[in-house]
This record gives sequence, C-alpha cells and structure tokens, in this order.
Amino acid sequence: MAVLLAPSLLAADHARFGEQAQAAVATGETWLHIDVMDGQFVPNLTFGAQVVRALRPVCPTAFFDVHLMVVEPERYIEAFVEAGAHAITVHIEATAHLQRTLAAIREAGCLAGVALNPATPPETLRYVLGDLDMVLVMTVNPGFGGQAFLPTAARKVPELAQLRVEAGAGFKISVDGSVNVKTAPGLAHDGADVLVAGSAIFNHPLGVAAGVAALREVLPV
Ligand code: DX5
Ligand code: ZN
Repeated sequence: MAVLLAPSLLAADHARFGEQAQAAVATGETWLHIDVMDGQFVPNLTFGAQVVRALRPVCPTAFFDVHLMVVEPERYIEAFVEAGAHAITVHIEATAHLQRTLAAIREAGCLAGVALNPATPPETLRYVLGDLDMVLVMTVNPGFGGQAFLPTAARKVPELAQLRVEAGAGFKISVDGSVNVKTAPGLAHDGADVLVAGSAIFNHPLGVAAGVAALREVLPV
C-alpha cells in the first residue's frame, strides 16, 4: 500500500494557517498533522482545539491527525473530537492510564494513536496492541520542527513492523521528525505507513506542492 504523507502544520506560516492547510490538501494529500504542545510535556507551546475547530470548515475533506504533546492528554480528548479530529495520538510518557485513554479515544469515534519518544522502547506497547490503531515513532525529541534525524529511534520502525506480524495486529506505523527526501525511502522500506513531514513540505523553497512532489518522487507508488 502506498505510504501516506501527513503534512505537519507546525512548519506552516502561522499567519496564513488556513491557506497553507488548503495548499497541502490541494496536492492530493488527505492527512494533515496537527501538533498540540503544552509547554510542559515539551518545551514549546502551539495551539489548542479552537484552532483545529477553525480549520475544520477550511479543509472539510482532510483527515485531521492530532498529535497531543501534552501531559494528561485524556483531559483534552473530548475537546479535540468536537473540534474535528479523526485520529488522536497521545504520548505514552504523558498518560498514567494508557489503555483507558486509548479506549476513550476510540469510544469518541477517532483512531487511537500512541507516540513513542526516542528513548521509549516499542515493547511497552505489547499489552495494548488490541487498543490502538496507530503507533507514532518520534525520530526527534518532540517539541520543535527542523531538528536532526535520530537514526537509533528509527530502528523501532522495522521492530514494530515485526511485532505487528507476530501479534497479528493491524496498527499503522507513522513516523514523525525530520522526514525528508533522504530519510523517507528507508522509513517506507522498513514498514512505515504514514510519514509526517513539516519542514520538508512547508519550508521547501519552491512551495508546498514542490515539497510534497519531492517526497512523492522518492517514495514507492
Ligand atoms: C515535532 C512535531 C513534528 C514536527 C516535525 O515535535 O511532532 O510533527 O512538525 O517537523 P520536521 O518535519 O520539520 O522535523
Ligand atoms: Zn507531530
């Protein structure tokens, strides 16, 4: 199956947020990755459900892939569901009761994702494999766009692909952090289903469409 690209709006021009989101969707990509940061789980602040709600009518057909980099993400599930999220990903390091949090996301009708910081091993997911729809492998420490790729963290991609086969599970493997024309082919080869890309798309010198096209060129069809 072709790899999905999820343009990450963190790297978009925030003064033209809606327009940039529309430009990403106009390339044919259906996912938009939305990074919510609380200044506590990660050392940076972005935006909350209000911004997601404002984007919903601007991009009515887009799949909103919300990545919560916040402590106690269970407190915000309802707000993001109401705002128009389709997938909600929480950090395993940020919630004390992961299974309950994932169940709440699914009950609300969204795909339930778990993000792993670079130092968090994938084995920790073994007992919630039946509760999740997506694993987000962070290949940078979350908090900022434009950081350097951590190859050791990317080793989790083939490990998760193997775990998925062994367990007969169907979760998607998504990768977030320094996805670009150099790193994307190896990640796709190793089993990634979704590649989140911020700088590579929104900071491409020729624009958003050129950023998407450059990535598409190095990925299998
Ligand atoms: C980082 C965010 C990423 C970010 C990636 O904490 O989760 O989604 O946008 O940015 P790039 O693609 O520039 O590494
Ligand atoms: Zn993200």
